Amino acid sequence: MKVLLISAVIYCAIATCFAQKVEFHDCGSQLSTINEVDVNPCPSLPCIFKTNSNVTLTITLTPNAAVSDAKSVVTGIIEGIPVPFPLPDENACNFMTCPLAPGTAVTYKTAIFVRPEYPSTNLIVQWEVTSSSGEVFCFLVPATISK
Ligand SMILES: *[C@@H]1O[C@H](CO)[C@@H](O)[C@H](O)[C@H]1NC(C)=O
Repeated sequence: MKVLLISAVIYCAIATCFAQKVEFHDCGSQLSTINEVDVNPCPSLPCIFKTNSNVTLTITLTPNAAVSDAKSVVTGIIEGIPVPFPLPDENACNFMTCPLAPGTAVTYKTAIFVRPEYPSTNLIVQWEVTSSSGEVFCFLVPATISK
């Protein structure tokens, strides 16, 4: 019992307890339901993204259709103006297991490097995964970039 408890605490310390579930707005998911969005670090909203640091993003979703190709599209909405955020790898299938099968939950996991040259600003992060068969998911999370 004691051993179990200790292992649970250690597991928690190295894994799940760092996951920070955030409230998000769905912006038009069609081919899946988003179950959870975790952003690390993001103890409260808006997420504060420090330049020169990595932010990890873990999304669990349950597809309602088969999807074999998927592309990540990220946009920063700054004072209402959408600014495309280029990703080093747009192939969303490199960050989750494809093809997606209806009813089988998958995890999409990625990290972004907050580059030192990014301006300090408030923004809404719009993270979308699209496919040839439609919008897989889309969510919005408010954030602040700070030095
Ligand atoms: C961010 O992640 C990249 C790739 O894993 C790593 O090389 C880099 O050292 C990390 N940077 C910081 C500031 O943690």
